[in-house]
Amino acid sequence: MALISRLTTGSKIFLSREKRHRFIKECSIFNCEVVVELLCHKVQDPSQTTQMRALCGLACLMCTDLLSLEQIFSVTHVRLTQLSNGTAGPVTNKATKLLRQFEALLGFSVIRTITTEDTPVDQSSYKLNMADQIPFGARDAVLKHSDTLPEDMPQIRGYDFNQGVDHRALLQSYLTTGFQASSFAMAVQEINKMIDRRLEPVEDQENACDSQQSQSGCTIFLGYTSNLISAGVRETIRYLVQHKMVDVIVTTAGGIEEDLIKCLAPTYLGEFSLPGKELRQRGINRIGNLLVPNDNYCKFEDWLMPILDQMVLEQKTEGTCWTPSKMIHRLGKEINNPDSVYYWAYKNDIPVFSPALTDGSLGDMIYFHSYKNPGLVLDIVEDIRRMNCKAVFAKSTGMIILGGGLVKHHIANANLMRNGADFAVFVNTGQEFDGSDSGARPDEAVSWGKIRMDAKPVKIYADATIVFPLLVAETFAHQASKLTADKKGV
Ligand SMILES: NC(=O)c1ccc[n+]([C@@H]2O[C@H](COP(=O)([O-])OP(=O)(O)OC[C@H]3O[C@@H](n4cnc5c(N)ncnc54)[C@H](O)[C@@H]3O)[C@@H](O)[C@H]2O)c1
Repeated sequence: MALISRLTTGSKIFLSREKRHRFIKECSIFNCEVVVELLCHKVQDPSQTTQMRALCGLACLMCTDLLSLEQIFSVTHVRLTQLSNGTAGPVTNKATKLLRQFEALLGFSVIRTITTEDTPVDQSSYKLNMADQIPFGARDAVLKHSDTLPEDMPQIRGYDFNQGVDHRALLQSYLTTGFQASSFAMAVQEINKMIDRRLEPVEDQENACDSQQSQSGCTIFLGYTSNLISAGVRETIRYLVQHKMVDVIVTTAGGIEEDLIKCLAPTYLGEFSLPGKELRQRGINRIGNLLVPNDNYCKFEDWLMPILDQMVLEQKTEGTCWTPSKMIHRLGKEINNPDSVYYWAYKNDIPVFSPALTDGSLGDMIYFHSYKNPGLVLDIVEDIRRMNCKAVFAKSTGMIILGGGLVKHHIANANLMRNGADFAVFVNTGQEFDGSDSGARPDEAVSWGKIRMDAKPVKIYADATIVFPLLVAETFAHQASKLTADKKGV
């Protein structure tokens, strides 16, 4: 009794380390079953401090081999359960904690067994069940029951190569493959919806904003970052433009000049790891794992300067008001090469918007030229009006945007003018956690009114060099005969 009284008397609710050590030492010379019984009695004391100190005493004993856990549990569990079910507070918490410890150490469901029974439990049954029952928390966590899922929900299943190598079937199996493969398949569906709408007959439009007004059921805006023209995605884009499968293009300066420069000299495959210092010494520029000799830009300068001279002349003598899109149209005419995206854009009257046209080699040339023959003016105001009108007066619109930055926002912003695009597919590697527009998911554009609320936009998180040619294969190229049926001059 003196031992228990010394232990439970004090002003603090927890025992000091020294007190705990002394208590255990003294217990070793007593009958510990009696000690536990006495502690169990003390946990009913009206003083919360006494109760807490008694519980701490029990916790100390549980950490020793003076008495088996089963024995301590069988004496204390009813009391601990009562305390554990009491009003929230330190005593309740401590009692619950001790029960959890028993549960973990003994390997059976202490709390549920006791709390769900109104009548006292036969203590011998614990001894039988303890070792071979699954702890209650674990079973519930692992074997939680599910709601029934809708019957029409697709089941995950990938391509079976036992059916041979069938690339179309492989791509179609992406829908039920999961992750970005499924997004790819959904993007195919979204673009095919744009194409179906595009093929619907359109009545004459009364509100045509300018002579470039698209006459199709769905005006398709295609945007891409410059590097995709540096890469071989250029040829996929050229195909779309050549066959008038898209209506409006937006790209950045490199996306214009790299196409034209490729008509003058090639871009090569290098490696991402090639050192910048060595490349610089050799006059070779690197774009990812592509290499562009600096001589290509010298050739571009030789080609471009006379055109800029002519543009200045026309501005001065004929009053031509140049805009970036008009300049690109002119460059497409001058390059006169069927490998070029902008040659076909010129031929097919597809407007190409690039409001930051000076942020690339074109800007360097315009800068140099401004010293030799000053006065060229490019009006971005006329272009924004023309671009926005393409969205405003379209019957419906679809956005296919490869990469982020200017191209993504410029197209989406034009579509705000019509209260949102009807269809949208984004392919980019951007993430949204930094708040960038590049990484923003389509749903962010819905919040701004740039995509319609009832649209089913798709974002594929992937490198567009892998994804876009495959997307075109499954959409525009697959439906080419229908899309080009009434097109002349292609
Ligand atoms: N070849 C070139 O890349 C080149 C050449 C000359 C000038 N520039 C200039 O650099 C500036 C920045 O270029 P930008 O605005 O065209 O885009 P960017 O290269 O800055 O890319 C913008 C975002 O698009 C996404 N992205 C880029 N490439 C992708 C890919 N292959 N697949 C998926 N997502 C991709 C990424 O999220 C990236 O952050 C522009 O002003 C451009 O004119 C670029």
